Amino acid sequence: MDEKKVVYITGGSKGIGKGMARYLLEKGYKVAISSRNATEIEKAAADLGKIKADILAIRSDVRKQEDEQHAVKTIMDKWGRLDVLIANAGVGIFAPVEELSYEQWNKVIDTNVTGVFNSVKAALDAIKKSKGYIITIASLAGTNFSPKGTVYNASKFAVVGFTQALMLDLRQYDVKVTTIMPGSVTSNFNDHIPSAEDAWKLQPEDIGQIVYDLLKMNPRALPSKIEVRPAKPPVKN
Ligand SMILES: NC(=O)c1ccc[n+]([C@@H]2O[C@H](COP(=O)([O-])OP(=O)(O)OC[C@H]3O[C@@H](n4cnc5c(N)ncnc54)[C@H](OP(=O)(O)O)[C@@H]3O)[C@@H](O)[C@H]2O)c1
Repeated sequence: MDEKKVVYITGGSKGIGKGMARYLLEKGYKVAISSRNATEIEKAAADLGKIKADILAIRSDVRKQEDEQHAVKTIMDKWGRLDVLIANAGVGIFAPVEELSYEQWNKVIDTNVTGVFNSVKAALDAIKKSKGYIITIASLAGTNFSPKGTVYNASKFAVVGFTQALMLDLRQYDVKVTTIMPGSVTSNFNDHIPSAEDAWKLQPEDIGQIVYDLLKMNPRALPSKIEVRPAKPPVKN
């Protein structure tokens, strides 16, 4: 490979973000990861650093535009380029609407929607310069609705709409944009503790492989929206 390409993954301390980071490190990319919790993100970077030293941990809350601007500046100061943004950080709250508080609504929308906007705005100049790639991690909840899903559905439908419009804006600059819409993935989402019972689900590295395949695709081809689901979920009785 020529000069190593640089990837920035938000929400990289665990789950899908950390799995994508691992996959891309193994494939020879430099990878920056961020999350709100400084201890957790440093711990994840120390763990991933056992694979390769090309890892950078940044504390950032995607809800704060200044945090995301600082994150991108930190990457540019260290590596001088940014080729790929993966806006992955997200939270889920599931409750009937009468039980959903204003605080819960704001937390999900601020993280899953405004957070993606903040990350994209912060990275835009660098990504245009590198003629790079922006990937958002939406969800099948961005196309299928479910009971108790009002705010999560609203946030992921918004991410899909935002990303597709962004794709139309940025392809004129040779910047590719894709949203990945996974079904169930083994992770710590919603305080889940992974166990052997998650074996049927997608694994975080499966999403890493999709990202890698996108990055390696012929420049003329752009899969702009990808639905991916477990191949054989348990049958519900
Ligand atoms: N797991 C699934 O089945 C599934 C399916 C479809 C889509 N997704 C989406 O995939 C993405 C990753 O979720 P996951 O399943 O990997 O969940 P996870 O294991 O809970 O990881 C979420 C990551 O996001 C970070 N995060 C949360 N709020 C943040 C904020 N305000 N600023 C920066 N980082 C923040 C968390 O770290 P801190 O807590 O330290 O900030 C953590 O690193 C989410 O957008 C989720 O909606 C998940």
